Amino acid sequence: MSPADERPSWAADFFAVPLVDLGEGDPKLKGISTPEPEVGAEKIGISEQFLAGAEIYDTRYTHSSYMVELLTRAFAAVGFRPSGSLDVLDMGSGSGKNSLLPLLQITPQARAIATDLSPDLLEILQRYTVKEGLTDSIACVCTDAMNSHFRPGKFDLVMGIAILHHLIDPLQAIKAAHAALKPGGLAVFFDPFEGFGLISMAFRTILERADRDRLELNPTAAKFMQAMITDLDARKGTDKTADRFRYMDDKWLFTRTYFEDAAAEAGFRSVKVIARNTSDTSTREYVTDLFRLGCQLEPDALPPWAWEPIDLMDQTFSTEMKADLVMEGVIVLSK
Ligand SMILES: C[S@@+](CC[C@H](N)C(=O)[O-])C[C@H]1O[C@@H](n2cnc3c(N)ncnc32)[C@H](O)[C@@H]1O
Repeated sequence: MSPADERPSWAADFFAVPLVDLGEGDPKLKGISTPEPEVGAEKIGISEQFLAGAEIYDTRYTHSSYMVELLTRAFAAVGFRPSGSLDVLDMGSGSGKNSLLPLLQITPQARAIATDLSPDLLEILQRYTVKEGLTDSIACVCTDAMNSHFRPGKFDLVMGIAILHHLIDPLQAIKAAHAALKPGGLAVFFDPFEGFGLISMAFRTILERADRDRLELNPTAAKFMQAMITDLDARKGTDKTADRFRYMDDKWLFTRTYFEDAAAEAGFRSVKVIARNTSDTSTREYVTDLFRLGCQLEPDALPPWAWEPIDLMDQTFSTEMKADLVMEGVIVLSK
């Protein structure tokens, strides 16, 4: 059977508009559909890393082990018990490895519509779905998370892992999530926050000290820290009207207030933000991860004096304050 033959017909029931199979225009996308009004629409706000570079991106960023733990914590925080026949909308699912697949570990009977703006990333998920015989439980639909072509009140759970910070206007996606949920349903997002400013401060201190005291610093590490400072600076605040945001993948660092206001405007009953990491050494752990992922350097690439301002952040704040100064967090919205 070809992937197109295996495309689950059940997906259409969740949409207010007809779905068109992308395989009609490109055979390798058979089985992935798109809402008719979005056929041929320009893909604004994502770069080649999510399109032509999808395979490389997919291999580099897979952390599903911690996503199972985070989703479990998020559900427990609001007393949500995912069970049997759960209908799930995954916004910006990419290849699904950090969102749908962890969810299916928690609740294997769930049925999910996996959406993304990138047909290339969805193709990876579609291949996996066909290979594993999961076409009755996962359907791939290429759509912009800021659009809302779903029939209202159809889903028990909306999830979006690392999607909102890519959107020019995340409020549109939060409103779409609210409309798509059944009464009593839950939306769970995971995104970066302005708490990352702590790392920016530490990096600035390190670079200034190296310059002032003529201390040696690995040039790759120095370049990476400067790039992080520039990137984090560009993403703070809520004004995303500048043209550059159309071409930047990472657009936002959020605050709790943003989500409290957005939740109220979208009509959610409540919102909870759960920080991912509040351990005694969380800043050190984040910096270690950033170096490994961002420039393939191990912690010993930084000399001991450079770790001092990083460790100072960890020593300065209590666990409770770290939870308030979220770097990355799960946002749990109850309808
Ligand atoms: C950081 S990846 C996260 C993917 C997946 N949820 C995960 O955690 O691995 C961000 C995803 O958002 C998608 N994306 C970016 N802008 C989007 C938009 N406007 N609508 C839908 N998806 C979008 C990208 O194609 C990419 O798959």
